[in-house]
Amino acid sequence: MITIKDIDISGKKVLIRVDVNVPLDENLNITDDKRIRAVLATINYALDENAKVIVASHMGRPDGKVIPELSLAPVAKRLSRLLQKDVQFAPDCIGPEVKAMVDKMQQGDVLLLENLRFHLGEQENDTAFAKELASLCEVYVNDAFAVAHRENASVVAITKFVPVCVAGFLLKNELNYFAQALDNPARPLVAIIGGAKVSSKLGAFENLIQLVDKFLIGGAMANTFLKSMDYEVGGSFVENDLLWEARSLMKKAIQKGTGFYIPVDALVADRFDADAETKIIPIQETPPEWLIMDIGPATSLLYSEVLTSAKTIIWNGPMGVFEMDAFSRGTSAMVNYVANSYALTIVGGGSTDVAIYKAGESHRITYISTGGGAFLDLMEGKTLPAVAALERAG
Ligand code: 3PG
Ligand code: MG
Repeated sequence: MITIKDIDISGKKVLIRVDVNVPLDENLNITDDKRIRAVLATINYALDENAKVIVASHMGRPDGKVIPELSLAPVAKRLSRLLQKDVQFAPDCIGPEVKAMVDKMQQGDVLLLENLRFHLGEQENDTAFAKELASLCEVYVNDAFAVAHRENASVVAITKFVPVCVAGFLLKNELNYFAQALDNPARPLVAIIGGAKVSSKLGAFENLIQLVDKFLIGGAMANTFLKSMDYEVGGSFVENDLLWEARSLMKKAIQKGTGFYIPVDALVADRFDADAETKIIPIQETPPEWLIMDIGPATSLLYSEVLTSAKTIIWNGPMGVFEMDAFSRGTSAMVNYVANSYALTIVGGGSTDVAIYKAGESHRITYISTGGGAFLDLMEGKTLPAVAALERAG
């Protein structure tokens, strides 16, 4: 994959597509700027090379309407602070006014365009919209891994209309680390899969079962696996229409000699509430009506033993309702085991990263992806449309 480092960008108008779809609070303060920090390397590189840097992104899902709360204005300010230089902010992402702003740019200037999704053409991968965007620049850089799974104009169609299209450092890193974990991994390769639903990860399971040596299952999805084996799961969330799939996945794993670990104990609560009455029970003893909220200490210990020998770990999805402190123990224990392991550790999607940052262990994880849906699509073995488009263009 050709990157921004492989081409000459000096003095050129370089449009860098990033994904700074960051969370905002009710006062429009950015509550987490990691996605902005993640693209600084590419932007700074372009600045050091004396390019005119045009930055484009989406925010939220305005569906073609101008929604002031989804303006990228707060991002312009934060970007300016992080780059320690002025960032101009365009009132739109295409059109004569934006063009005029671009024409006035000097080498080393940064211009952030307004939310791409204020135009329906973005989501519709529209040719005319892509051409308009393309007309702003001479070089296109895709550094927007988190939206690489979307067939959107600024990541797919645009590559047909800019003469030079390359990847930024974030996109390249994301793909490289993922490939390191799954293409030719040091073994044993262990996949930790948590989160609420088996259904959202069926595709990932189908793909990973060909590659992974052991699965560790947690989160509410474990309930579906447990129930498929006729365990009582009380009033816990279960996908009853997926019991057959869950069971056959486990059978497939056994036939292939793949370890498939499900919880042996749990932390249960009498209601879905941070102040609920709780107890720890062997999985055989889930009381009727009670809810499984987290893996228990025996499961934790069992999983830690599996992780001790792992050489590669890929993790998606928490082990329990970790957003409530009372049910976060299983997930935070896993964070520690993964951080302490000697393995290459890759984490992505499903708010797993939130748990890791909360535990203060991010620096001890090999790579934390900025992607949610894009990371999941990679786990499913899919080719990301934006990556395919870049490769076609290169
Ligand atoms: C994300 O946050 O998942 C990405 O920015 C993509 O956004 P989307 O799911 O709205 O396409
Ligand atoms: Mg998403």
